[in-house]
Amino acid sequence: MKPVKVGICGLGTVGGGTFNVLSRNAQEIARRAGREVIITQVACRRDNPNCDTSGTAVTRDVFDVARNPEVDIVVELIGGYEVAKELVLEAIKHGKHVVTANKALIAVHGNEIFAAAKAAGVTVSFEAAVAGGIPIIKTLREGLASNRIQWLAGIINGTGNFILTEMRDKGRAFEDVLKEAQALGYAEADPTFDVEGIDAAHKLTILSSIAYGIPLQFDKCFTEGITKIAREDVEYAEELGYRIKHLGISRRYANGIDLRVHPTLIPERNMIAKVDGVLNAVMTCGDAVGTTLSCGRGAGAEPTASSVIADIVDLVRSFDMPAHARVQALAFSELSDYRILPIEEVSSAYYLRMAAVDKAGVLAKIATILSEKGISIEALIQKEPAADATTAPVIMLTQQVQEKTMNEAISAIEALDVIQGKVTRIRVEQLN
Ligand code: HSE
Repeated sequence: MKPVKVGICGLGTVGGGTFNVLSRNAQEIARRAGREVIITQVACRRDNPNCDTSGTAVTRDVFDVARNPEVDIVVELIGGYEVAKELVLEAIKHGKHVVTANKALIAVHGNEIFAAAKAAGVTVSFEAAVAGGIPIIKTLREGLASNRIQWLAGIINGTGNFILTEMRDKGRAFEDVLKEAQALGYAEADPTFDVEGIDAAHKLTILSSIAYGIPLQFDKCFTEGITKIAREDVEYAEELGYRIKHLGISRRYANGIDLRVHPTLIPERNMIAKVDGVLNAVMTCGDAVGTTLSCGRGAGAEPTASSVIADIVDLVRSFDMPAHARVQALAFSELSDYRILPIEEVSSAYYLRMAAVDKAGVLAKIATILSEKGISIEALIQKEPAADATTAPVIMLTQQVQEKTMNEAISAIEALDVIQGKVTRIRVEQLN
């Protein structure tokens, strides 16, 4: 059979990994795909010293690849929004299939891109956009196709998990670990995307679309990063039998679906609490299968290349199928318009930490506010004030309550003259 010709746009961390794995495993990949897969052209701003491109045509202009009549599949690995979008639409216009690892592109412009691909009868694949090397898109779109998905939750940013793990286990400073994550090729070009939760929100947007069959709605995802997690919260959480993880969570309710990324206390006995370092993990709950957990490397050159190339192999296998017979981009032939719930309408349990003046009656005042709001306290710790401090840390776990009610309770607690500063609030999930 005729070989399939691939053009790779971008030869950075993921592009370089894809180039090398495709070259190294060419024979095995050909045996799986049923035809040879050849890298016909590479577009990059600068050469990658880890890649031997001597036998491959190299251009500095990514649009050369999109318009190259020889190329069957354009692999978009340049990242970012605008040029990547233009490139993918240009490739589609020229009748090419596209494989991308670009979560920002899919989360923000995916609806438009998939519509263009459908009209042109080509496929845009994006396994590598979520959770690096874990085949979670395939799992949700195909493996769990019989299920009504009820919820999903995941550690879906490798850099953030790596930072939290190193800070907790080795007491390392945030900035120092972030620098290492950048050197290892885990972090985004702009690492605020990792630490402020934007990257995880892109991925959660994609996961929820294919889990429930809804359009991509990144702008409705609630996002809170890891920069404000204090060492003491990590320690108090452990005292209470919990770990703090940065999670993307989405659940189906009678009146809609929530989409939220935030630091979360989860019971330490839960398997996902033990997922450390650059590893990612995604839990899904389907009505038929129950709970599943997929785990693996969430970032880095070759783990991400593994997913990019799996998409290429899948595409090659489906070349001779009519477009309507291929798996739909967002898993469903028809999308639903379920409402995305604003965070104020979402219910959760909470961890609260506050600095209380060390005198009689303070706890009673806090408890009164919570009880007036119908909020039950599940656990409470009051620490001794530190030497020469006038306040003592009070830590509590509450039962489930709507965010709006918790916001009102926190405002009332912060207004007490016996409370100093802001109340720290971290949501708590049992994930069972
Ligand atoms: N910066 C991302 C992460 C890369 O750390 O998870 C993989 O998407």
